[in-house]
Amino acid sequence: MDMKGKIVLVTGANGGIGGALVKGLLERGVAKVYAAARSVEAVIELKHCDERVVPLRLDVTHAASVAAIAEQCRDVDLLINNAGVNRCVALLDSAGMESAREEMEVNFFGTLAMCRAFASVLAARNGVMVNVCSIIGLVNLPVNGTYCASKAAGHSLLQGVRAELAPRGVRVIGVYPGPVDTRMTAGQEMPKATPAEVATAILAGIENGEEDIFPDPMSQAVHGKLVLDPKQVVREFAAMVPA
Ligand SMILES: NC(=O)c1ccc[n+]([C@@H]2O[C@H](COP(=O)([O-])OP(=O)(O)OC[C@H]3O[C@@H](n4cnc5c(N)ncnc54)[C@H](OP(=O)(O)O)[C@@H]3O)[C@@H](O)[C@H]2O)c1
Repeated sequence: MDMKGKIVLVTGANGGIGGALVKGLLERGVAKVYAAARSVEAVIELKHCDERVVPLRLDVTHAASVAAIAEQCRDVDLLINNAGVNRCVALLDSAGMESAREEMEVNFFGTLAMCRAFASVLAARNGVMVNVCSIIGLVNLPVNGTYCASKAAGHSLLQGVRAELAPRGVRVIGVYPGPVDTRMTAGQEMPKATPAEVATAILAGIENGEEDIFPDPMSQAVHGKLVLDPKQVVREFAAMVPA
């Protein structure tokens, strides 16, 4: 996809990866970016930097909010479903049920609501949909057990939506980052890619027509191992069980 002159909607645009995506899209010459966030104030700054940014309020878990944005943004060529939440909780933790429900609500049901709301918009414009999944949606990391389960659901959602939208001329791309240095991983000591690096790799993948994007060295390494020996990767991640 050549991004020049395109109209794009990014959810979670005030977040680390979302903000970097907006900047990268502007550098690539898009005509307009709808920068959607739960609080419009959080994305007003982006508008001050570039007139092509249209800040919009969006909570992906509220049906009325999703319907309103779909009604307003009928000209979208590229939808990037990036909004997500990670409570960093293990499945059997005392907060496990609550976290699992919240993460499913945002990462699965919220993404599904956006896919449904924009299916016809994108079909009318031969558009592209990008869902930001996670490498730990492909293998469970116990310390983030509930999040991983929601991202695994997001991975399955992606496959299904891709199949349903292909005959309607819409390409659906999955993104599977490893750890990225954003609010989501604050306080967690590990090697992390920068949001700018990840956004650059995502946008390059979209331009190059990739179907699945592994945007950083960690996700590429884990994906490579998953292809060769998935059971061994599951064992290695299981060994990182929280104390
Ligand atoms: N950071 C990582 O290591 C990593 C790795 C793999 C995948 N990912 C995925 O990458 C995406 C972006 O995450 P990030 O790392 O950039 O984290 P982030 O900085 O915390 O950004 C997450 C964004 O999602 C938004 N969001 C949360 N709940 C929402 C809702 N109900 N409706 C609309 N927006 C909502 C947040 O808005 P508020 O400011 O209002 O909360 C924020 O803008 C997520 O899908 C995440 O799962 C991240």
